[in-house]
Amino acid sequence: MGKALVTYFSASGVTKRVAEKLASVAEAELFEIHPEKKYTGQDLNWTDRNSRSSVEMNDRSSRPAISSRIDNISQYSHVFVGFPVWWYREPSIIDTFMEMYDFSNITVIPFCTSGGSGIGDSGRNMQNLASGAKVLSGKRLTANMSIEELKRWIDEVVDE
Ligand SMILES: Cc1cc2nc3c(=O)[nH]c(=O)nc-3n(C[C@H](O)[C@H](O)[C@H](O)COP(=O)(O)O)c2cc1C
Repeated sequence: MGKALVTYFSASGVTKRVAEKLASVAEAELFEIHPEKKYTGQDLNWTDRNSRSSVEMNDRSSRPAISSRIDNISQYSHVFVGFPVWWYREPSIIDTFMEMYDFSNITVIPFCTSGGSGIGDSGRNMQNLASGAKVLSGKRLTANMSIEELKRWIDEVVDE
């Protein structure tokens, strides 16, 4: 593996903690994807059809703005992209992220946290938005994964 980056979006801190652990095990740099407009508790209410997250996730063309930008992404050979599963897939802000950069020659490795759902079609969705990238199907990670388990997964994906 060349230089690696772990980047993530986290609305309530779970993915953030997993991303920090992953970056430390992978000896990767860490970068948070900040929404221009932070998600409030009400925004995240999935039982409300009119909440911000419901409205965004019901519109495949939704692209919530990002206020943080990675310098020179081409320096990385592997970019891990983490997010919470929202409605069985990547949040729309991850679609914004995938369209922001030229991922040529970069292997993108999705990872997620969730209440139980797997990562689903997120990898395929992300691949469709990233010209030139190689996007793997990725994996759901949990906060209690051991360092050995994380190491094993990292070794697996960097060989793909
Ligand atoms: C709008 C919304 C939709 C969600 N949809 C799912 C889902 O489809 N399946 C699931 O297992 N968890 C779902 N969750 C739970 C989150 O994936 C889970 O709590 C995640 O670990 C939160 O990560 P974060 O703290 O980094 O934001 C959803 C949460 C929200 C706010």
